[in-house]
Amino acid sequence: MPMLLIKNIGTLATPLGTSSRCGSDQGKIEVLHNAAVLIDGEKIAAVTANGELPEYSAYADIVDAHGALATPGLVDAHTHLVFGGWRAHEVPLKIAGASYLDILNAGGGILNTLTNTRKATEDELFERGRGFLAEMLDFGVTTVEIKSGYGLDSENELKQLRVIRRLGEACAQDIAATFLGAHAIPDEYAGNADGYIDFIIERVLPVVAEQGLADFCDVFLESSVFNVPQSRKLLLAAQKLGLPSKVHADEIDPLGGSELAGEIGAISAEHLIATRDSGIEAMAKAKTTACLLPQTSLYLNKPFARARDMILAGVPIATDFNPGSCPSLNLQLSMNLGYLRYRLFPEEVLTAVTLNAACAIGKGDSVGSIEPGKLADIVLWNADELPMLCYRMGSNQVKKVIKRGRVAVK
Ligand code: NIG
Ligand code: FE
Repeated sequence: MPMLLIKNIGTLATPLGTSSRCGSDQGKIEVLHNAAVLIDGEKIAAVTANGELPEYSAYADIVDAHGALATPGLVDAHTHLVFGGWRAHEVPLKIAGASYLDILNAGGGILNTLTNTRKATEDELFERGRGFLAEMLDFGVTTVEIKSGYGLDSENELKQLRVIRRLGEACAQDIAATFLGAHAIPDEYAGNADGYIDFIIERVLPVVAEQGLADFCDVFLESSVFNVPQSRKLLLAAQKLGLPSKVHADEIDPLGGSELAGEIGAISAEHLIATRDSGIEAMAKAKTTACLLPQTSLYLNKPFARARDMILAGVPIATDFNPGSCPSLNLQLSMNLGYLRYRLFPEEVLTAVTLNAACAIGKGDSVGSIEPGKLADIVLWNADELPMLCYRMGSNQVKKVIKRGRVAVK
């Protein structure tokens, strides 16, 4: 692969480092003007500013940014991107007064998607996932976490995880896979959540770990889904098999999910709409990052998480793309809501969708910032300053996407 030089970058904005930026450091980013980036193969070789150019070979390809803003490729740290069907019919039910959990308890919601996901073949799910990832790339998203959780039996959870692995091999993005077998209680175990957790621990988790199909284990800790003891049992069993923990915590009710995340040293707790002070303290103490999903608050007509209070342990922001609570692939919209509803500053929002998101999925060493040694994942924007990305809303502001040193979106 020849070298690639990106020159005439008007402003280059990036967090720096390989670990989550917490507290007041989340907003401390590097801002360079009249910058250039030299890429050697898949990695960044040099970054220069103030009109200086790095030394490059005569054979290097050149991309002229024409004064555009450059940031690291965006990282979507929380999606449920592999599923069958949609659930558009639920929205009128909600407008008429049904809650998310009412619909789930009546056999709809996640259980509706379960039926459609079990029916779909591996190839059908793969082709659909490939289309979703192509759309995300157009929005500037170069790294994605994807959860299973719509199979809820051994055959179909493994099918979803294999699809995720194939997507990682076939698509431009780097992918992290999360096993979310404890996403709901399937009909086969109705009224027996304990039995279902034991089934996952004994029959599914060992296969997931042995086949290397997941990087993390997650659980939906929620009223009428899984409680704290069940979640603790599952996540500790997964940790023993080498899978770090994530927790869907306090999305609807504060049942102790964020507190558990801190107690067991989870890498992240996610949602955190209804989190209590004790949960925020537990996460800060354990350095569990608070992965926030503002489009889900919007879609469920719920309050927005207390991002400013959670920033002590670092805040990533993601989409939560799924057919029920967030049918959106657009991480730029999460940036707008991070700015307007979490009241984070543009620098903090940038860190939330790049470095902190990368760290939340164990990829802080390789992506999330523009600096030598990291993968050359760079977005050029139809904007000349960072605040424009949070201020403009509803348009795709991407101009060009470079993924692993190749121009992936022209
Ligand atoms: O993150 N809350 C659990 N899981 C998803 C929703 C999944 C669904 O409704 O299909 C979420 O909101
Ligand atoms: Fe989710």
